[in-house]
Amino acid sequence: MFDITMKDLFDIKGRVVVMTGACGVLGETIVKYFAAQGAKVVLMDLARAAETGKRIVGEIKDAGEEAMFLETDVLDKVVLEKNLADILAAYGTIDVLLNAAGGNMAAATVPPDRTIFDLDVEAVRKVVDLNLFGTIYPTVVFAKVMTDKGKGSIINFCSETSFRPLTRVAGYGCAKAAVASWTKYLCGELAMKFGDGLRVNAIAPGFLLTNQNRSLLTNPDGSLTERSHKILGHTPFGRFLEPDELVGTLHWLASDASAGVTGTINLVDGGFESFSI
Ligand SMILES: NC(=O)c1ccc[n+]([C@@H]2O[C@H](COP(=O)([O-])OP(=O)(O)OC[C@H]3O[C@@H](n4cnc5c(N)ncnc54)[C@H](O)[C@@H]3O)[C@@H](O)[C@H]2O)c1
Repeated sequence: MFDITMKDLFDIKGRVVVMTGACGVLGETIVKYFAAQGAKVVLMDLARAAETGKRIVGEIKDAGEEAMFLETDVLDKVVLEKNLADILAAYGTIDVLLNAAGGNMAAATVPPDRTIFDLDVEAVRKVVDLNLFGTIYPTVVFAKVMTDKGKGSIINFCSETSFRPLTRVAGYGCAKAAVASWTKYLCGELAMKFGDGLRVNAIAPGFLLTNQNRSLLTNPDGSLTERSHKILGHTPFGRFLEPDELVGTLHWLASDASAGVTGTINLVDGGFESFSI
């Protein structure tokens, strides 16, 4: 396939890396890491995140690297097609797609003092829409560039809830389990019809203390909730993960170093999923 003595398998200099949800907590760390590796990074996020996106792009450019910000909505195919035209005009291709837009909504959870009969089913639908269809739409728009050239790496964002449901987060669990299923489905679909240069994997970050889950993991005074203590008691590392602990796995999945890897869901969770007592 390639001469391993001649090539840095992790070299992603010049590769075009497109990330949805790029202005979020994890996104900022991830796009700055990819830019520092010499990739051309496209940050895509909602209009409301434009200021953050432009700040991050400015910081990347100040460091001498390449980046651009595009307003998008991962649930709007017409907007995504316009984004595709802008990316091709600027950088000519797409090598890596990180489908990170996603998250939970408070209304799609069932707190301890409520039951499923109180569940806002429409909120569950919105969470599934964002996480699942917000992964599928960008893929069907952007992957065409990859299938045309027979090479590309798609990386979806799963979660601990992709493997086993967690209490409370009813909608998020359904959505992330579906993203895992879609990832495995798509690996076969792309490789069998377009060749083994097309790869689809997912990262499944464990528990990080971020805006998405702050109200579940910390009390108003900043102390840890009972849920946090349960999580940490079940995590061999005994602590929450940090965003910068995700980037090595993403780099590997994006690069030729993972050339034989497709259809995998890669846990980065301090051992949570493997641990019992
Ligand atoms: N933070 C965690 O602890 C954690 C753990 C496991 C998995 N994840 C997953 O990782 C991904 C990133 O998480 P995060 O913590 O950075 O979340 P975040 O909420 O900080 O960022 C998500 C970003 O997605 C954007 N977004 C929302 N709707 C959008 C839409 N329709 N179109 C385009 N962009 C949209 C938001 O504006 C935001 O910038 C998510 O898929 C999340 O579910 C996060």
